Amino acid sequence: MTPSPIGRRTDRVDGPAKVTGSAPYAADYRPEGLVHAHLVQATVGRGEVRGMDVSRAEAAPGVIAVFTPFRPLPLNPPSPQHSGENYSALQDTAVRFRGQIIGLVVADTAERARDAAALVTADYAVTPPRTSLADAGPGVPQGLVQKLAPGTPSIDAALASSPVTVTTSVSQHAQHHIAMEPHATTAVWVDDQLTVYTGAQAPQQAAATIAARLGVEPGKVRLICRYTGGGFGQRSPVWNEALLCAAAARELGRPVKLVLSREQVFTAIGHRGAVRQTIRLGADADGRLRALSHDSDGELPAAGGWRMMPGRETSAVMYRTPNIRIDQRLVTLDTPPTWSMRAPAEAPGMFALETAMDELAARTGVDPVELRLRNYATEDPVEGRRFSSKHLDECYRVGAQRFGWDRRSARPRSRTDGDWLIGMGMASAVYIAWRQPASARARFLDDGHVAVGSGTSDPGTGASTVLAVVAADELELPVGSITAEVGDSALPPGGVGAYGSSVTTSTVPAVQAACRAAVEALVRSAVDNPRSPFAGLDPASVRYRRGRVEARGRSVDFPTLLRAMGLPHVEAVGTAAPDQSASRYRFHCFGAHFCEVRVHRLTGEPRVNRFTSVFDVGRVVNAKAARGQLVGSIIWGIGHALLEADPIEPDGRFAAASMADYLVPVHADTPEIDVHWLDRPDPHISESGVRGLGEIGMISAAAAIGNAVYNATGVRVHDLPITLDKLL
Ligand code: MOS
Repeated sequence: MTPSPIGRRTDRVDGPAKVTGSAPYAADYRPEGLVHAHLVQATVGRGEVRGMDVSRAEAAPGVIAVFTPFRPLPLNPPSPQHSGENYSALQDTAVRFRGQIIGLVVADTAERARDAAALVTADYAVTPPRTSLADAGPGVPQGLVQKLAPGTPSIDAALASSPVTVTTSVSQHAQHHIAMEPHATTAVWVDDQLTVYTGAQAPQQAAATIAARLGVEPGKVRLICRYTGGGFGQRSPVWNEALLCAAAARELGRPVKLVLSREQVFTAIGHRGAVRQTIRLGADADGRLRALSHDSDGELPAAGGWRMMPGRETSAVMYRTPNIRIDQRLVTLDTPPTWSMRAPAEAPGMFALETAMDELAARTGVDPVELRLRNYATEDPVEGRRFSSKHLDECYRVGAQRFGWDRRSARPRSRTDGDWLIGMGMASAVYIAWRQPASARARFLDDGHVAVGSGTSDPGTGASTVLAVVAADELELPVGSITAEVGDSALPPGGVGAYGSSVTTSTVPAVQAACRAAVEALVRSAVDNPRSPFAGLDPASVRYRRGRVEARGRSVDFPTLLRAMGLPHVEAVGTAAPDQSASRYRFHCFGAHFCEVRVHRLTGEPRVNRFTSVFDVGRVVNAKAARGQLVGSIIWGIGHALLEADPIEPDGRFAAASMADYLVPVHADTPEIDVHWLDRPDPHISESGVRGLGEIGMISAAAAIGNAVYNATGVRVHDLPITLDKLL
């Protein structure tokens, strides 16, 4: 019996193609007759384009066309339900933010298109943009979440009657996804059929959006993203750049490629919006919560964007408390569109909550782990639904032990190593676990492989390897016999979007269903096909085992059987959806972070020394990829805490628009990260017990760092990132 590959370390099935450079990304397609486009972007923060001079660009070498609001490409407006950009580029002369697309230059080479784009000038009527969250005043309420104990008139009253209160206000600037692959699109029309090569997290949904925006039938657009170089939320929607590229290809009757520069990705594509938050905690003297209030003001650009509500899935579920109020507001600014970015609301939200909890621990003198255990929730405090499977207490215990939490001194500035102040901090993590209805296809091939496909995407998460591992397990075959297919909207419908850490949770049951259905189809062919050695047998007497079809003492491997029957393949589609009874539970992943930092006594330089995190994520499919996801996510947390911020200037310009200015952790910033997970399959989410784990690692990693910095220095930094100037 082949041991099950589930839970073992499996190398990525797409690894060799990626490291050898043979994996094609969107910009690697070179169809016959290809021409190249380059964007022109607005250089003012708000206003109106009064006129544009394209004459020098049109006369430049190799230029084929220059599109502007005065010579637009036809695009339909986004549907009212669409929550991304709320306008179509080039359809009007309004400038909503600095960096908005106001032109597209097409030329015979990418360099000539870029050079000609630099020759386009625009004349603007300028209105001062609104860019400051602090100055913009109160935002628009997004729906209050509130539960008060009987007889309690308001959250303020509950706080006022609490023996101990803590108020913590935190803020953070815009952040950027900066996926390794810059946004790129190659659009090819053959008659009225469009093929778009562009990175996407949700290929089928994106193909449907492109069809709607271009005004063609949904079936006429195929999106291919066999490889996608990072998503993190930014590749969930379709942005104006890809739509214009496809529209230009239609207009010109030839394939067009548009590759954004790194700088353009910062503005033409959404960022994580700036947000300011206040947590108020009321507690008994022993730290037991009586009230929790979470207010936020987030950035919502006039041009549209993702609505950040940082407490909804975090403060509203995390701790037991009789009184709770989550009030989330959004403030309209003239900034580039926002979009969800890895752990989009949860990372900021839990930074706020877990910083406040650390302040409560300091105020009450209760150890931070003990404080969290005293407020442990077995059901969510607002709706009262039980968690499907929660072992966070075990995460605290195992994490504290692996890390050596007992060596921490509660008194700040009490441990040093030469000129370095040493501190320890911890924080809890929580992230929603959810399952989308999903489909997959399994196909026995006469060359001995099984192809398993789903219309989802693998933007580097390891999703294709998950498909292969699960199919190998289900069909009792080596992982090497499975070919995984993702990143194509033409795959069977029902492929899920690669967001919300939901692909593994959703597709594992679908792949299992597809494999079972394919085995049934293979057996049925074997008894129905007159050329089969099993022809005419009762299907109940025929069985599939480890790649072989067996009955009456005969055993034939499936490729031999397929060839005998003259069939190149036998396939089936399987679908799976969450059980109705699941709505009785709240599904979440949990984790506990423990972190040690050092802060230089003289320079204030903060460094993360070591990190230990323990997670409760259900069953793990691929231990190697899971570790990669969790470690990578914690590294994002280091960036969140110490490095990542892009303030916006009063004229609407981002202060940073390159990877030289916008800092993310490099290897020298990244310590040894000890990641561990409990082996606790979720009994209610699916038969396999798998929950996703893409985002949980990032949540609260920044809070653990901030709490450790406080323990090292006695300084509490509320405005991220924690930079050395704030520690002196
Ligand atoms: Mo992620 S922000 O759920 O793509």
